[in-house]
Amino acid sequence: QGGGALSGKRALVTAGPTHEPMDPVRYIANRSSGQQGYAIANALADLGAEVTLISGPTTLRKPAGVAVQDCETALEMQALVAAMPVQDVAVCTAAVADWRPAQIVGQKIKKQSRDDVPAPLELVPNPDILADISAPSPSRPQLVIGFAAETENVEAHARAKRLRKGCDWIVANDVGENSDVMGGRENQITLITEQASEQWPRLDKNDVAQRLAALISERLSGKIDL
Ligand code: C5P
Repeated sequence: QGGGALSGKRALVTAGPTHEPMDPVRYIANRSSGQQGYAIANALADLGAEVTLISGPTTLRKPAGVAVQDCETALEMQALVAAMPVQDVAVCTAAVADWRPAQIVGQKIKKQSRDDVPAPLELVPNPDILADISAPSPSRPQLVIGFAAETENVEAHARAKRLRKGCDWIVANDVGENSDVMGGRENQITLITEQASEQWPRLDKNDVAQRLAALISERLSGKIDL
């Protein structure tokens, strides 16, 4: 244990996509590389926090000094989150699939002939992990941060999302056409809190993570009232 600004603090980060299987070989998923979440887990650990990273499927190297718990589906991610001890801060960067196939077929769904018409795919809603973590309870983290990937009206949608989810901060980013944010190295975010909205310059995802970790630390220690 070093003397970092976040030493003694527990941080939970969700990252990556979730994969929602239809049969043994097919799934639906969101586009997410996991980079921003992994960078945040790293940055929090660098400040001395005890970090758990709950990760959907990604190809990224596991960050050193972080406890990584892997999962595939939203239901698995929810179960891992529910099993965690009380956290000081939760950062939900994961691109959780909003819906999953109602049934997982045990055998590969076969296409019999060229003009075979597929059966309709029935979907059911997944749990909203961020909303669950944000709900008032004695074990709610002091600070809960959600992400909002929007393609238009970024700030208005993100403000509405902050209220709907019940989280404290929303990190909004524009993933619209030509943004190159999805899978890219850089990110341009707007941080939305109850009182404030600040637009950050376009930065390397590692720099976004470091700035965010520094703000988290100031907020947990009461130095800022964002
Ligand atoms: O509603 P939307 O998916 O746009 O919200 C994004 C935020 O909510 C992200 O922080 C994401 O990690 C979180 N989320 C979640 N569980 C879901 C859907 C989204 O935790 N089922």
